[in-house]
Amino acid sequence: MCGIVGYIGNRNAYDVLIQGLKRLEYRGYDSAGIALEGFDGQLRVYKAKGKVSDLEKAVEGKDVTGTLGIAHTRWATHGVPNNVNAHPHLSQSGSIAIVHNGTIENYGVLKEALIREGYTFKSETDTEVLVQLIEYVKVKNKCGLFDAVREALHQIEGAYAIAVIERDDPDTIVVARKSSPLVIGVGENETMLASDATPIVGLMDKVVYLKDDEMAVIRRDKPLQVLSLETNHPSDFDIQTLKMSVAELEKGGYETFMLKEIFEQPDRLRDCVRGRILDDGAQVVLSGVRDNRKRFLEANRVVIVACGTSWHAALIGKHIIQDMCKLPVEVEYASEFRYSGPIITDKDIVIAISQSGETADTLAAIQLAKNKGAFVYGICNVVGASIPRNTDSGTYIHVGPEIGVASTKAFTGQVTVLTLLALCAGQIRGTVDEEKVRMVGQALMQMPETVKEVLKLDGQIQQLARTFTYAHNFLYLGRGYNYPTALEGALKLKEISYIHAEGYPAAEMKHGPIALIDSEMPTVVIAPTDSLYDKIVNNVQQVKSRGGAVIAIVNKGNASMQDMADYCLEIPEVPECLTPIVASVPLQLLAYYIAKYKGRNVDQPRNLAKSVTVE
Ligand code: G6P
Repeated sequence: MCGIVGYIGNRNAYDVLIQGLKRLEYRGYDSAGIALEGFDGQLRVYKAKGKVSDLEKAVEGKDVTGTLGIAHTRWATHGVPNNVNAHPHLSQSGSIAIVHNGTIENYGVLKEALIREGYTFKSETDTEVLVQLIEYVKVKNKCGLFDAVREALHQIEGAYAIAVIERDDPDTIVVARKSSPLVIGVGENETMLASDATPIVGLMDKVVYLKDDEMAVIRRDKPLQVLSLETNHPSDFDIQTLKMSVAELEKGGYETFMLKEIFEQPDRLRDCVRGRILDDGAQVVLSGVRDNRKRFLEANRVVIVACGTSWHAALIGKHIIQDMCKLPVEVEYASEFRYSGPIITDKDIVIAISQSGETADTLAAIQLAKNKGAFVYGICNVVGASIPRNTDSGTYIHVGPEIGVASTKAFTGQVTVLTLLALCAGQIRGTVDEEKVRMVGQALMQMPETVKEVLKLDGQIQQLARTFTYAHNFLYLGRGYNYPTALEGALKLKEISYIHAEGYPAAEMKHGPIALIDSEMPTVVIAPTDSLYDKIVNNVQQVKSRGGAVIAIVNKGNASMQDMADYCLEIPEVPECLTPIVASVPLQLLAYYIAKYKGRNVDQPRNLAKSVTVE
């Protein structure tokens, strides 16, 4: 949800910033802009509606020299996407430029006050209000940029990660953060800042994750200074080593990031379980769980909070944890949780699931749970993100950077980690026997090979996708563990193809959606041969007898479904709790190819952003 990047050093800042924006484009892609150090008495600001490539076109032939700059890729919150609303924004005199990720809640009041002071506004954004306020404070207090930014931020309510530069000082960038992420890359005589570490990879391998309510002053050829926004005293900061490689951020020969991420699932799931399953499957060790043994022993209940795809993983986690740990589990949308008067006690374990670790609603839910004394456990992909830093303990899914906006490998990684967590906690609680741990543990170790097998369906799914690009509506049905798989399959299709799709618990179909079924509306049924198979067969017959086409995901060798369904996609048999991992892969591919044949931009679907840092 908006990406910011900045550079100061000896390289051409424009090149570094454009590469950084491309890596951050998954955060928003409706407009982009760049501000380069003052030249001939002016900051050079270039902006374009659309993607970073549109900005590159707009800048052709312009002066892009210089070694300091800031840049932004936008996901609109205040004001439509256009050149005027695109960042960077300039102050009234043109002497200060800002890029901002977040939202300023009290911008209306501040704007009115500034208008009374003679300030005029070009854009509809909250960000322009902040840069004008910085200039106002600077002039009024006759102070430097750092003090002006700090004072202005004290008047701001909301969330921000900002980078600010000044026309008359080509050697300084001032940055600050509150509830929006900001990483600083520290190199030899050069420094970067970015919304996440991806723009820094390949240029510098040392990073500092700025904490909430901290500011930093980045000065050319001077050591980094980090200060508390509140007290203005220097803050301690850790310099960490970046483990990400450039290869992880590239498409690696695939036509899109999403396709790469679908196909790399075997390797990523291997990374996800590495070192966590011992004794030939009989022992599952998650240090985040083991180190908090008492909490898991004494817990009365688990509440899982998440958004989007992570929420679907949470629904699967509910089944697995209830089964292995014999603990009641509730699943809440993070965005609804704090408005539902949640009753949370210090005997609750609250699990927050998030690929990015930056989702604003999930962070707010975590805060509420902590305030009520719950033990908060994070399941996250992005190392160093806000969620792992704000939870009591947790587990990384370790599936590598996910860049396609529609989540794929993160989903299968989340379900894998939830399974590991349930097994590990179940062993501690004595609620799962060794045989079961071994059966599921071995199947998880085998999962890379199993998913490889599933990926062989690629050709068949491409053909199927061609058959169904005409459809305007899709229904996805599943039961038990695979009701959430149905939700996730429908979400994938919706997100990237813009076809309306609904996921439903199969038995609920007769209470409404059955009215929609006709020859124009295909139904995807997830029907592995599990404890609910016989029941789902009835649902398939109900669809067929109303003229609907059925695409069934079934286990290999299921002859009876071959007779009933119009198309069958065969997946290998795995323990029931792992069927969502295996069944979701063909659904990812089906959504992918339908979207591709409809000519959609699969990696950057309209209106969506990968990291939702606003409420
Ligand atoms: C956005 C993304 C989804 C993601 C959701 C939650 O909507 O487009 O792919 O599932 O946010 O994000 P999180 O990072 O918290 O898992």
